[in-house]
Amino acid sequence: MAYNLLKGKKGIIFGALNDMSIAWKVAERAAEEGAELVLTNAPFAMRLGSVDELAKTCNAPVIPADATKIEDLENLINKSKEHFGGKFDFILHSIGMSPNVRKGRTYDDTNYDYFLKTLDVSALSFHKVLQTARKLDAINNWGSVIGLSYVASERTMYGYNDMADAKALLESIARSFGYIYGRERKIRINTISQSPTMTTAGQGVMGFDGLMDFSNRMSPLGNADGDECADYCLALFSDLTRKVTMQNLYHDGGFSSMGMSHRAMSVYNRNLEDINDCKELQKKVKKD
Ligand SMILES: NC(=O)c1ccc[n+]([C@@H]2O[C@H](COP(=O)([O-])OP(=O)(O)OC[C@H]3O[C@@H](n4cnc5c(N)ncnc54)[C@H](O)[C@@H]3O)[C@@H](O)[C@H]2O)c1
Repeated sequence: MAYNLLKGKKGIIFGALNDMSIAWKVAERAAEEGAELVLTNAPFAMRLGSVDELAKTCNAPVIPADATKIEDLENLINKSKEHFGGKFDFILHSIGMSPNVRKGRTYDDTNYDYFLKTLDVSALSFHKVLQTARKLDAINNWGSVIGLSYVASERTMYGYNDMADAKALLESIARSFGYIYGRERKIRINTISQSPTMTTAGQGVMGFDGLMDFSNRMSPLGNADGDECADYCLALFSDLTRKVTMQNLYHDGGFSSMGMSHRAMSVYNRNLEDINDCKELQKKVKKD
């Protein structure tokens, strides 16, 4: 259902690769809510993904930009201002990539060149987007910027690797820049800490299916999916959340406040029974 929440608002959406991408869902919902959009992704993603399809649905231009390159970001923001006929109101940063994760390097066997790339793509790019937008005076007062994060920024989640460090940095940038942009322009900057979600980036994480199941069993409301994340983003882009800034906002069905749930414990107990049965069986076999 549409509420015209973003009528008259304009924004840039980074990171729609294919129809599983969280950014894809945000773009579709933002357009439904009346926003005018510019879509962007890294040049390699233009070849691999299907963002042109989304552009048709949303009636939005696609302007390629590698979010780690300042000249690309300047070009993107200048061209977006031309397209919109002036400043715009919101940005979604939905970007993540770790070469260590991709190449199956574990955290105790990190390649440091890859690590720097992880930090640059997944976290520093957020700073670069914000700094470029500010220097080009591109965002209207009371605008809103969102980055997407994950709870591994603050709690160890086995297998998330150097992305955990990148997310901690991303959340810190939201606070540090949130102060500056808030004070000067009333622009709010937040991160959303989203449940594990079945996307191209998500599937790259080791043991992702198990992680999704565990997280779903732990969360009283169950995992939040990409469509639900899109709805939350719209609320944060809208004028209904004008005093929310410098926050890491959990959108995870309650996972981040849990220690252990009955649903997760029941699976653990079942496995424990299997192990006990197995021991009993081993004893029996030895006796026989
Ligand atoms: N999927 C999950 O489980 C999950 C959970 C919490 C947070 N997140 C975060 O959500 C965000 C979006 O990821 P997703 O799950 O939709 O996966 P996705 O693979 O669809 O999106 C990741 C995007 O990052 C883009 N990207 C990579 N390098 C780039 C660069 N140099 N410049 C510009 N863009 C670049 C990719 O092209 C892709 O579109 C990421 O920040 C991710 O960490 C995902």
